[in-house]
Amino acid sequence: MKTINVGIVTVSDRASQGTYQDLSGPAIREWLKLALSVPWHEHYRLIPDEQTQIEQTLIDLTDHQGCCLVVTTGGTGPSRRDITPEATEAVCHKTMPGFGELMRQVSLGSVPTAILSRQTAGIRGSSLIINLPGKPAAIAECLQAVFPAVPYCVDLIEGPRLETDPSFVTTFRPKR
Ligand code: MTE
Repeated sequence: MKTINVGIVTVSDRASQGTYQDLSGPAIREWLKLALSVPWHEHYRLIPDEQTQIEQTLIDLTDHQGCCLVVTTGGTGPSRRDITPEATEAVCHKTMPGFGELMRQVSLGSVPTAILSRQTAGIRGSSLIINLPGKPAAIAECLQAVFPAVPYCVDLIEGPRLETDPSFVTTFRPKR
């Protein structure tokens, strides 16, 4: 069985400088621990909102660490330093706009400012990269919405077989 490597990338100037604690990265970790029913290995990075550094981190996690899935948090808004979606698109071979569409749609049920997130997703080689907003509250909301489609997406890009705990999140694989 292939090792399942998952990248968790917090993009935040202030958290990376230690001005505040990163809560969103750990929230992704805790969510994935409940969701994935197969053994997986975590690769965590905490970096500033610098496009080159984000791109290098995503390339390292996908190409060198073998992550089939990379989840980022932060840097998706309209502020001057927010650049995560651009960095994601720059390293991806395909964009997957449905992820951002669905995450904004569900988030709008909680906060009208959900439309301010430019979060997206894309494919680099055999890796799926998904952006989440930086708010810890957004993590579960967004992952819960899109994750049912994630294992099949990873199948299609020839990654390892992901399985989820159906009592927490149900995986949908269409019959072929
Ligand atoms: N989505 C959810 N689910 N929950 C939130 O609190 N905050 C919004 C939006 N999406 C939010 C959300 C706000 S206020 C902003 S500015 C954008 O995400 C971008 O956040 P980011 O720059 O931290 O990525």
